[in-house]
Amino acid sequence: MATLTYKNRSFEGLESETVLDCLIRNGEKIPHSCRSGICQSCVMKTSTPVDGASQKGLRPTKKEAGLFYTCQQSLNKDFEIFDSNESGPPVGGKIISQQRVSSSVVILKVQLDSPLEYKAGQFVNVIREDQLCRSYSLASVSNNQTLELHVRKVPQGMMSNWLYDAELLGHKITLSGPVGECYLTHEMENDDLLLLGVGTGLAPLYGIVQEAIANGFKGKITLFHGGLRLESLYLVEELKNLEEKCPQFQYFPAYLTGESREGFLQGDLVELLKKHEFDIKNTTVMVCGDPDMVKKLKQTVFLKGVPSKKIFSDAFVSNKKV
Ligand SMILES: Cc1cc2nc3c(=O)[nH]c(=O)nc-3n(C[C@H](O)[C@H](O)[C@H](O)COP(=O)(O)OP(=O)(O)OC[C@H]3O[C@@H](n4cnc5c(N)ncnc54)[C@H](O)[C@@H]3O)c2cc1C
Ligand code: FES
Repeated sequence: MATLTYKNRSFEGLESETVLDCLIRNGEKIPHSCRSGICQSCVMKTSTPVDGASQKGLRPTKKEAGLFYTCQQSLNKDFEIFDSNESGPPVGGKIISQQRVSSSVVILKVQLDSPLEYKAGQFVNVIREDQLCRSYSLASVSNNQTLELHVRKVPQGMMSNWLYDAELLGHKITLSGPVGECYLTHEMENDDLLLLGVGTGLAPLYGIVQEAIANGFKGKITLFHGGLRLESLYLVEELKNLEEKCPQFQYFPAYLTGESREGFLQGDLVELLKKHEFDIKNTTVMVCGDPDMVKKLKQTVFLKGVPSKKIFSDAFVSNKKV
């Protein structure tokens, strides 16, 4: 039986238990969300060698420092583990705006108590007072100290229903991060951008569109925003206004079911993408939102000939176990 040591306490592991599960079973309040090695909220530190999967995607410096995802590491040997503040200590913030833009999406603005460096398109982990933790993408431009988050409430979703339904103006929340590799870099400056967002997958792309325009990106910027129904789409007017003002920007709102409406595409985003012509060699593609759709859209652009190094994505995976 393996032993886990944390803050001078030792816990006996159960068979096929992860480090995270053992900590939680023993009453330790460890932030965690996706349980898939994506959100990084459960990252801790150890000097014991870990399995490759529990460091997948971490930067080499973080791997060398002994950081690992506790949700991905089986307790298959003795471990001593420590807290990690590698991405900086969590920061506090106050909700200063809570705008319900549809029957399921709320746009929150959070005024930070202390500075947070981030890039448009990255995500943060929102931690509630009871330690419930979930990832949300940043819809604001890099380093703006008022963060914008777009949250869609999912049936029985603990965090998303709270963020949508509760009256949260003036409420304090804690955030950790930023995390994520889906953001603009200098190498993309002369490329066209093809941005594909499903549902609140619009959030990171909204910040990216504004940033690319503000930073003088030269290429075409094309945004497809897909939803199930017309009402699922939001920020339509803002994006249409931006399209009018900015000739390099094209915006295609698209929905799957319902009557057709002028100015909107109708149909499956994957099929619409198959028909869309673009400069395969000089386009950077970013895809965000529902994990199944992200997978299909990535496959479609890859099969069209876009090299995988030019395809970036954020799949909004939900936690597997609450
Ligand atoms: C990198 C990343 C970025 C993300 N960014 C955003 C974002 O910008 N906006 C946003 O709204 N969400 C985003 N998410 C998803 C978010 O983190 C939560 O998973 C989501 O809000 C549900 O949390 P919850 O606590 O409300 O639901 P939970 O209490 O965790 O889940 C309740 C039930 O709902 C199911 N469920 C969870 N998610 C969905 C879903 N999408 N559709 C249908 N059923 C679901 C669960 O399987 C479970 O049965 C992101 C996730 C990741 C990993
Ligand atoms: S990476 Fe472990 S909970 Fe998300």
